Amino acid sequence: MREKQFNAAITGLGMYVPDKIYDNAYFEKIVDTSDEWIRTRTGIKERRILENGGTSVLATKAAEDLLKSKKMSAEEIDVIIVATVTPDMFFPATACLVQHNIGAKNAWGFDLSAACSGFLFGYQTACSFVESGDYKKVLLIGADKMSSITDYSDRNNCILFGDAGAAVLIEPTEDKNYGLQNSLLKIDGSGLDYLHMKGGGSLNPPTHETVDKNMHIIYQEGKAVFKFAVKGMADISYEIMKKNNLTADDIAYLVPHQANLRIIGATAERMGISMDKVMINIDKYGNTTAATIPSCLVEYYRSGKLKKGDKLILASFGAGWTWGACYLIWSME
Ligand code: UT7
Repeated sequence: MREKQFNAAITGLGMYVPDKIYDNAYFEKIVDTSDEWIRTRTGIKERRILENGGTSVLATKAAEDLLKSKKMSAEEIDVIIVATVTPDMFFPATACLVQHNIGAKNAWGFDLSAACSGFLFGYQTACSFVESGDYKKVLLIGADKMSSITDYSDRNNCILFGDAGAAVLIEPTEDKNYGLQNSLLKIDGSGLDYLHMKGGGSLNPPTHETVDKNMHIIYQEGKAVFKFAVKGMADISYEIMKKNNLTADDIAYLVPHQANLRIIGATAERMGISMDKVMINIDKYGNTTAATIPSCLVEYYRSGKLKKGDKLILASFGAGWTWGACYLIWSME
């Protein structure tokens, strides 16, 4: 195994959400639901919807926001990773589209498919590139246009999802007290039955029949997913605390994937962490899949709540199953 040369730290942040809002009142008009049901069962009040363009729009605008706030040139970027389950197209990769849009002419890159754990899996991957000394500036973007695969006649699912993109820059640091400390990441394909998209891939290529059978949208058995998610995310978050000998007092923030406020609450409870130490933005954006965790980081940092030296646990659970937790120490002033 190659020696770790550096620690890998997040040194830049950016995000983008479209202006168009679907609030709970909108869903009261299109399906049999209520604001009260949605808020109490999920914690969601509104979501953002991208009307024109694909996920590359969300990813590009998040990257541009990062470059602007960091005052850096896209030409400095070595690698671009886009975590997404809603790429503009099967190929080319959305990372290629972002590379072209921002003019990152010295970068290579790729898309990473791990659903709601996309950001965490991308984070571990990006950090490994940097820790090895092979690359100095890795742009990791979590972006999903969930509205493109949501069935707006199905009240079980349509109220849950929204569109967003968020980006982090990962660079080496000599100081081992900052950046990613370690991760616990898992996949288990037995989750297939409960959460997937049936059509469009090589198993069921698009035909009139797949369209007629409504196979190009998210299929989710909500109740079953809920049970797996509560156990999966709470267990792994607790495990990473134990692995690092952390108590609840040591942790500044839990940064959970935002799928349901009740899943988040159960995870915090298992860790012994109070809800004021949990990053939350599900109320504003719903479940934006790969963008939930990085968008929380951006918003809490920009509002002054996330500070240098803060110890964070990032945690996720999603389709696959894919799940995991990362322990990091925040290094941005
Ligand atoms: O990010 C990827 C991972 N995904 C998740 O983590 C999502 C996990 N699942 C969930 O968040 C929850 O299961 C849901 C929010 C999807 C559903 O909440 P629930 O408390 O599990 O509700 P349920 O599915 O058990 O449904 C309870 C009732 C049902 O009616 P009956 O059968 O009791 O008469 C549903 O038909 O609520 C009904 N229902 C609704 N009612 C009003 C389902 N959706 C709605 C709705 N408005 N939008």
